[in-house]
Amino acid sequence: MLDPARSLSLVLIMFVGNACKADEPAKTPAGTPLATPVATPDATDAATSEGKRVVGELKRRLVTRLTEALAGGPVAAIEVCGTEAPAIATAVAGAGVTVGRATRKPRNPANLASDWRADALAYFEQQHAEGKKLDGAIWVRVLPSGRAAYAEPLVISNLCVTCHGPTDALAPDVKQVLATRYPGDQATGYALGDLRGIAWAELPAR
Ligand code: HEC
Repeated sequence: MLDPARSLSLVLIMFVGNACKADEPAKTPAGTPLATPVATPDATDAATSEGKRVVGELKRRLVTRLTEALAGGPVAAIEVCGTEAPAIATAVAGAGVTVGRATRKPRNPANLASDWRADALAYFEQQHAEGKKLDGAIWVRVLPSGRAAYAEPLVISNLCVTCHGPTDALAPDVKQVLATRYPGDQATGYALGDLRGIAWAELPAR
């Protein structure tokens, strides 16, 4: 299992790197505020615990609702996913907090990974490519705005292949409803253990 403290320290090392670059006089004249705030251990600790809490809540609620909905069959569950996933994200978000899911191959185009979410995804892709376990891995960063960003990987399990597996393995009614609801669907062709995307949270500055 990937040690979360270790992935955190990797991110911290990145910040130390940024801080060193910013200290070069040619790039940062005296008195100019740094474009990227230096992440203090306090800020990253707070982002990690708050991020874990909200992203954990998002994942729990989605899996609970998905499992309940699948009892009525996958076609009904697709309807539930489409209408309730965004509503669950809104319910989990608090004051100044936004949460969601992001991927490179979206079903819902609104979930295409952009800006820091693409960085987080690239980090987990790298870990995955190196054969490291994604289970328990986290990514955390203090953004130039001072807000904090937190992400966890979403991995394909048995629960997911009904709707995200290879197209020739999908039930005909599932294929049909996906084609109707999501004409540009890219979110098929996954196998057990594949990295599907991330669950993310953006948190207020501290
Ligand atoms: C019943 C079918 C179904 C199952 C089972 C299912 N999904 Fe999805 N998934 C969907 C639908 C539909 C969407 C699009 C939701 C929307 O419109 O926002 C989606 C969207 C997503 C997204 C957001 C990115 C995107 O492509 O829009 C992620 C990430 C995701 N699913 C991961 C998973 C994982 C991981 C599992 C297994 C734990 C899973 N899904 C199981 C139907 C399903």
